[in-house]
Formats: sequence, C-alpha cells, structure tokens
Amino acid sequence: MDHFIYKNGELYAEDVRIAEIAEKVGTPFYVYSTATLERHFQVFDEALDGMEHLVCFAMKSLSNVAVLKLLGNRGAGIDVVSIGEYLRAKAAGVPGNRIVFSGVGKTREEMRIALEGDIRQFNVESEPEMEALSEVALSLGKIAPIAIRVNPDVDAKTHAKIATGKKENKFGIPISRAKEVYAHAATLKGLDVVGIDVHIGSQLTDLEPFRLAYRKVAELCETLRAEGHNIRRLDLGGGLGIPYTRSNEVPPLPSDLGQVIREEVGHLGCEVEIEPGRLIAGNAGLMVTEVIYVKSGEDRDFMIVDAAMNDLVRPSMYDAHHDIELVKEPQAGAEKQPYDIVGPICETGDTFAKAREMNKVAAGDLVAFRSAGAYGAVMASEYNSRPLIPEVLVNGDQFAVIRKRPTYEEMIARDIIPEWL
Ligand code: LLP
Repeated sequence: MDHFIYKNGELYAEDVRIAEIAEKVGTPFYVYSTATLERHFQVFDEALDGMEHLVCFAMKSLSNVAVLKLLGNRGAGIDVVSIGEYLRAKAAGVPGNRIVFSGVGKTREEMRIALEGDIRQFNVESEPEMEALSEVALSLGKIAPIAIRVNPDVDAKTHAKIATGKKENKFGIPISRAKEVYAHAATLKGLDVVGIDVHIGSQLTDLEPFRLAYRKVAELCETLRAEGHNIRRLDLGGGLGIPYTRSNEVPPLPSDLGQVIREEVGHLGCEVEIEPGRLIAGNAGLMVTEVIYVKSGEDRDFMIVDAAMNDLVRPSMYDAHHDIELVKEPQAGAEKQPYDIVGPICETGDTFAKAREMNKVAAGDLVAFRSAGAYGAVMASEYNSRPLIPEVLVNGDQFAVIRKRPTYEEMIARDIIPEWL
C-alpha cells in the first residue's frame, strides 16, 4: 500500500498535488511519502514482535538524510555500507549503537571513523578484514563488536546482478569454513564476536530461499555455541521483494517473513536484526517527469521524457519494470496506445519501457514512475552533464525539497582547470 492515489482527477502524494510540486520545483524530481515510509517501517517492526530485534533500514536504497531522520525518529536502525553512509546516518541523528556497518571492502580509515563515532556492529566478510579491524580497534583502545557474514550457498532465485548468497558470489565466508573462521576471530584481541550475519540477495519474491538460509544459520549458531562462542545476535539481511506491477501477484509480506524467522531461529533466543531497504523505500517514492515530445517512428511512437537513465538507471541496468502513470487521471475508456518511453540521453539503453500501453499523451503532460523510492535517486549520475534531480518529501498536506537541484554553475564549478592550461 502507498499514498500515491488519484483524487479529483489527478495524482496526489498524500494530500499534495503532484502537479503543484512540479510547478514549484520543476521536472524531473523524486517525491517520497512520509506516511508510506513510516508504515513500511512499522510493518517490519511488528513482523518481529515478541523477539528482541532491530530493523536496520538499508540506506543504500535511499540515503537522503531527511528520510533517515524520519525513520530514525521511529526507532529504526540503519545498515550502512560505506563511511559516507555512516556519516549520513550520524548527520540524521541516528545513534551509533543503532548503526550496522556491512560491506565487503571496508578500509582501515572507514573502520577507524566508525569506531571513534560509535557503532553497533561490523558485519565482516573475510579473515583479512577481521585482522585489520582487530588491529584498528586495538590501536584506538577499543573492542569492535562483529558478526561474520556467512555465505550459505543458497539460490535466491532473483536477478543475477542482485543475488549474493551463492558460493560464486563475492560476499561473506563460505559457511563450510565458518567454524575455523570463528575460531580465528576468537583469537583476535580487538574483536568481540557477537553474531552471525547473512544476506542472500534482493527482490526475493519467494520465502523458501530465506528459510533455507536461516535454517543453515540456526544450525551454525548451535555449532558455534557448542564450541564456546557467545553468539547472541543474528543479522538476517534484507532482500524481501516488492510488487513492481499492480496487476501481478503480491510477494510475501513482512509478516510472512517474520513468521519464517520465528520458525527457523526463534528458539535460539538471539536478538534479531534485519536490513530491509527496497521494501521500506521502494513503493514510498515516485519519479515524476514531463513529456518533451511525442515522436512517430516508422513502426512505433516514442514518448520522450525529460528524465533519463542517469536519473533512474534500473530499467537499463536490470531490465527492471516500473509502472508508469499519467499524473492527470485518464478518463474511463480513453484511448490507449503503445509507446516506447525514452529519455534524451545519447544511447539506446536510455529506454524506460518498450511498447508500453498508455493513455495518449502530449508534450507537457506529467508522467509518474512508480516504485522509484528505492535504488532510484541513490543510483543517479550526472551522465550527459545532467544535474542530479531534486528530492521532495511530502507529509500530509505539506512538502519540502530535501535535496535541491544543483545549478549548472554549481555542477561545472566542481571541475578544476589546472594552471598549465
Ligand atoms: N543488506 C545488504 C548487506 C545488502 O547488500 C542489501 C542490498 C540490503 C541489505 C538491502 O536489500 P533490499 O531489502 O533492498 O533488497 N540496485 C539494485 C539492488 C541492489 C541491492 C544490493 N544490496 C536494484 O535496483 O534492484
């Protein structure tokens, strides 16, 4: 469920007209709904009711500080994968003891900053990383709490670019070697080994891979405890998929995932962490763009919009589908036709959708891409010297620009001409 609905013949974000935002900030832009973000967080929180737990929003999906603050105010933890993300979480006022640091290649400098600023736990992914972290912690007179990310060799049955839990993926340590690696970690004086971490992929629409992975983690937990390790926390990763089309079947709900967690690891008495990104942010955001031209090709019509693959890369990168709707509500029975929906960038990959059945559009019409809250703004670039597009947050009948569109001057001023030129 989200809060982007038609009222009075046009699309609203909560109680704000999308067209009004477009008038004020210009197109294209991202817009997020506070009520939707809060609701999605709450649904996850409730899914783990009865277990000691922390829902750590995977901010790689949407990293605007205002969004982090609103989730942080609700009690969310944050999953970060770089020190840039860590500092954003801090800037949003999220305390270090609610920040989990994941990622396969943390540098010593990143470790130092996180340790000095306070951190709930590092999810470490290799033995060299463990050794480095222990050294950095000792040099600061600290002990780093860690969970070790295991790779359970489970097929997440999702897009190959976002599957992470098979042995050929770069993530975690093979679960078959976990016993030795934990024994090694226990000898490192700068570490406190608190838990096990697992994350098998993103946009999972089947619960079975989660179940298999969690079962392996539960077995490992018992083995490690028998070896004398005080395992008290399980980080079960993110990955629950969202509906990208309104017509398709609905993927499992957070409450269903919560049930699987309870069944597979509930008996261990561990504190549970999860790291959802897409499910919290995905359907809480739209990208809104304006039709520049409608161009008739030989065998098709192109809808050329003012957003492009640099603003929302998912369709070109993963062949991802986003529902696309007119901001002005189409009349019942109005004529439809197929469009290739494309941006202005000079490559064919700058195509959002092919032969998409849409109501007829004209230049100047506003068009909204749904499910764009997660992995939208965060993956944007300035390719073709197109400045990053603004982000807007709606809350009831109010809205605010939470990242402004840079001017061309600001964009160009970042380049430096060396003196010899
Ligand atoms: N935890 C870890 C360690 C992760 O690597 C990820 C996502 C998450 C949590 C959050 O997963 P989620 O709940 O959002 O599925 N750019 C791609 C998705 C990449 C996901 C990377 N890792 C896309 O646009 O589909």
